Amino acid sequence: MPRSSHTYVSKVVRPSDFDDFWKAVLEQAAELYAVNCLMCHGPTAGGDGIVGLLFQGYGVTPPPAFDSDRVRALSAGEAYWSVTNGFGFMPAFGNLLTPQERWTLIHLIGLSSEEREALLESNGG
Ligand code: HEC
Repeated sequence: MPRSSHTYVSKVVRPSDFDDFWKAVLEQAAELYAVNCLMCHGPTAGGDGIVGLLFQGYGVTPPPAFDSDRVRALSAGEAYWSVTNGFGFMPAFGNLLTPQERWTLIHLIGLSSEEREALLESNGG
């Protein structure tokens, strides 16, 4: 059955709902980060997680901070590709997280460092 424009419109987030929608996205991002990324990238994504620090002792590239020049230089698509397929000693999350969950984490990477730290700290990071 063809999708009617009515069906489509009913799923679009109205501008008046956007703040609540965005808040829910960021809360989900913080929870996904705590479970999947924190141990390497650190409590507030400073590159200093317990496992991440061990990388230095092994002489391999450690996890970068999300506000490093390296991560800042990535487009959203590049960051999504790396999280999906893995990069160096970072595992691939393509089979562990849904595309929606992975994009949610890309939003976390795109925040300013102040916003990200406040969010992750409020989530117990
Ligand atoms: C086992 C440790 C580990 C975990 C867990 C981990 N990472 Fe990483 N991550 C790394 C390492 C190490 C690198 C750098 C790899 C290199 O340069 O060789 C990296 C690099 C990255 C990069 C930069 C990739 C690029 O293209 O330059 C991003 C973005 C990233 N991680 C995001 C995440 C996100 C989001 C999660 C959680 C879903 C996550 N990482 C989980 C270890 C980890």
